[in-house]
Amino acid sequence: MKLLEISGLTKSFGGVVAVNDLSFSLEKGQIMAIIGPNGAGKTTLFNLITGVYPPTKGSIVFNGRDATGLPAHRIATLGIARTFQNLQIFNNMTVLENVMVGQHTRSTTGLMGAVFPMGPVQREERKVVENSLEKLAMVGLADKAMESAPNLPYGRQKMLEIARAAALEPELLLLDEPAAGLNSTETRELVNIIYELRDRGITILLVEHDMETVMEIADQIVVLNFGNKLAEGTPFEIQNNQEVISAYLGEEEF
Ligand SMILES: Nc1ncnc2c1ncn2[C@@H]1O[C@H](COP(=O)(O)OP(=O)(O)OP(=O)(O)O)[C@@H](O)[C@H]1O
Ligand SMILES: [Mg+2]
Repeated sequence: MKLLEISGLTKSFGGVVAVNDLSFSLEKGQIMAIIGPNGAGKTTLFNLITGVYPPTKGSIVFNGRDATGLPAHRIATLGIARTFQNLQIFNNMTVLENVMVGQHTRSTTGLMGAVFPMGPVQREERKVVENSLEKLAMVGLADKAMESAPNLPYGRQKMLEIARAAALEPELLLLDEPAAGLNSTETRELVNIIYELRDRGITILLVEHDMETVMEIADQIVVLNFGNKLAEGTPFEIQNNQEVISAYLGEEEF
């Protein structure tokens, strides 16, 4: 079953066509990688899918529903979550609070909380905490829950962002360069976390420059070049595609 269908998607910024007439689809349960040189339009594609800005042309269908041009908060409620190429960690919060952000539908400080001290608001809050701790455990940060988030090393902060996105229990998770800045041990952990997410039924779309990781985990790869789709296929097909090799991969072995 197709979870995401992108058709003729185009985004222009003034004279720059960042994404140009792009079409591809993503099967439920797949891990798909978007690769391509710097400035190819990968992050712009993520920003279009998540409603950061509307496309200039084309359509985005998620779960059979037209999601084209919907604002970011609506896209999130449809079941799409993401992480960012540049870390977005709240520095004045604990690790746990950073995962809890975004899950709240109601505030515990409101009138309901004051009037019913053991009521539905508290139960809701406890569910949020439990869910957040479970996601922290999944990324290996259970014992860091009460630490100040900026005290974590960079690699841990990236895992924290994945935990936050996973805590929204999305159907589709977009990861923008999750391996960037990670050492080889952390990259192994990341690969295992991505498999765990997939095993939990989450479909994964990731942008990544680390070709070893991409070729290992991706079921399908879409190659972007100057906003255009240069190729699409399995890791084997992409590694043996002459156009891709000359535009991006070079002649090195993978
Ligand atoms: N908000 C914006 N306003 C104007 N131009 C933009 C904007 N966002 C992206 N661009 C331009 O669109 C093009 C694609 O950028 P994008 O960030 O999508 O590339 P990318 O493939 O993610 O690159 P990288 O691998 O370096 O992260 C670039 O030329 C960029 O300068
Ligand atoms: Mg980018």
